[in-house]
Amino acid sequence: MRLLISKHNLGKWAAHYVAKKINAFNPTADKPFVLGLPTGSTPLDMYRELIELNKAGKVSFEHVVTFNMDEYCGLAETHPESYHYYMHHYFFDHINIKSENINILNGNATDLDAECEAYEAKISAVGGIHLQLGGVGEDGHLAFNEPGSSLASKTRSKDLNMSTVIANSRFFDGDINKTPRLALTIGIDTVMQAKEVLIMVKGLAKAPAVYQAIEGSVSSMCPITALQYHRKALILCDELASYDLRVKTVKYFEVMQDEYTAHDAAMNA
Ligand code: GLP
Repeated sequence: MRLLISKHNLGKWAAHYVAKKINAFNPTADKPFVLGLPTGSTPLDMYRELIELNKAGKVSFEHVVTFNMDEYCGLAETHPESYHYYMHHYFFDHINIKSENINILNGNATDLDAECEAYEAKISAVGGIHLQLGGVGEDGHLAFNEPGSSLASKTRSKDLNMSTVIANSRFFDGDINKTPRLALTIGIDTVMQAKEVLIMVKGLAKAPAVYQAIEGSVSSMCPITALQYHRKALILCDELASYDLRVKTVKYFEVMQDEYTAHDAAMNA
């Protein structure tokens, strides 16, 4: 596990990292780059910057296959708060991705279990996710893997806990009764199977989650801690999100940042 406390705009940093990974992979129709994508407010800057990089010809999504992390159940895909709407509105409609390469769970499927099994099978069929991007909830949830989620979980439906419903109600007129209570989500093990994971974390409210992720013990009650078992996971956070870490921990990770200093230099070139 690596930690980078960045003074840059996190989204810009992440976008350049994603572009670098896609370009280094040199994807083709037969060998696409497979990207796992999140929603939420945190990744918005990344999507904006990726659109700019795509328009400037610095990265192409022609041979990129995407799998979104999660989707609400019972919300029309055209609803402005559905993750289908979000992804098209903030990202897919503005880049050169092929519609057949976009995968988002169908939260309105008649058989939700079959939908989740098919999603998992499709990820395997394309050879797995090369780079899984994500955010984190204040309680450490990843995608919609709420506290208590099995660390061996695969794509499935999940009841959302009250703190997530309350947090998400800001998008539903502040009314928890309008906020979905059920969602489909990739599992913790689905994230763990990705070859690389990049989690973006912003703000003081997420500092306890970052603390648990880096210094806490692995526990299903804080799903992000599972990443301690991942072979290539990076937590990219701003200074506020790092405030619960010990100074010693911060200093420890600071001295391991050569790789990222080089990335910063390339990004600003
Ligand atoms: C929701 C999403 C998560 C996201 C989290 C935090 O629960 N399912 O994938 O990481 O919100 O969102 P934000 O970035 O808006 O804080």
